[in-house]
Amino acid sequence: MLINGNVLANQIKSNLKRKIRKFKTPPGLGIILVGSDKPSRIFVEKKIQFCQEVGIRIDNRFISTSKQNGIVPLKKKLIQTIKELNQSKKIHGIILQLPLPVKLRKYQEECFRLIEPGKDIDCFNPRNLGRLNSGRAVILPAVAMACLELLEKFKISPRGKNVLVVGWGQIVGKPLIPLLLQRGATVTVCHKFTRDLTYFSREADIIISAVGKPGIIKGPMVKKGIIAIDIGSSFYKNKIRGDFDLASLKNKAKLITPVPGGIGPITVAMVAKNVVTLYSRFRT
Ligand SMILES: NC(=O)c1ccc[n+]([C@@H]2O[C@H](COP(=O)([O-])OP(=O)(O)OC[C@H]3O[C@@H](n4cnc5c(N)ncnc54)[C@H](OP(=O)(O)O)[C@@H]3O)[C@@H](O)[C@H]2O)c1
Repeated sequence: MLINGNVLANQIKSNLKRKIRKFKTPPGLGIILVGSDKPSRIFVEKKIQFCQEVGIRIDNRFISTSKQNGIVPLKKKLIQTIKELNQSKKIHGIILQLPLPVKLRKYQEECFRLIEPGKDIDCFNPRNLGRLNSGRAVILPAVAMACLELLEKFKISPRGKNVLVVGWGQIVGKPLIPLLLQRGATVTVCHKFTRDLTYFSREADIIISAVGKPGIIKGPMVKKGIIAIDIGSSFYKNKIRGDFDLASLKNKAKLITPVPGGIGPITVAMVAKNVVTLYSRFRT
């Protein structure tokens, strides 16, 4: 079955709209985008559109890299923006859109530490990472949460399943590992040094791939009835493509998410859900 992520995202949208309508003041989300990386701009636009549709107020902070003279004023501006959003009573969630421009990446960890833990939508702050790893997180990083939401929606429990996570990047793969373990899955992680991906993919009941290499997983590499969640998203011949080779996988998979239109829209919905959770926590 090919999953249409927009359908699930629209259901979540209706629920959130109903919930937010009852609030006296709107929840607020601050989004920081540094530079003009095209995929990041598209992700940010989608988040803004969804959030505004459900009634979340957006404080959009774009930091241009071209007008700045050097790295020091740019870093200063970024830190000042995080601090402003931390202090704002109208803001309940903060997103620092990754990747940062290359020249700022060495300050990434410092920025994560600065984001107020109670407003940290992506769980980047080390305090939230600790909570995530010990199963005490208030909210979960949106992409990981989208995977779990999808599994739950289709009544697929990770407990006792062989789950293969391909790619252990900071935003997707890494947070998924403890979350799946906490849910009783037997988790295997493959990465760029894995010598034989097929050896592991053939044993998997569920594959969650977050690499960003089009078609890296193909039909002959998996067993029949596989649950295939594709998070990878990269431009190939001017089109957005996922990590799965859909043509060879779709008849073999019990459930598969396409790219685009699969996990992406659900992830955007999870961002809005996280804002509402943090807002509700702040109000009580
Ligand atoms: N749909 C969404 O909402 C959404 C959100 C965020 C990200 N994404 C997409 O998800 C993908 C991953 O994002 P990310 O931020 O996690 O990227 P990342 O930090 O670059 O992680 C990519 C991971 O893939 C691994 N890798 C590279 N080549 C591999 C290979 N041949 N076999 C197995 N693993 C390999 C890397 O291993 P090493 O660690 O060993 O280098 C790394 O762990 C990207 O395509 C991104 O666009 C989608």
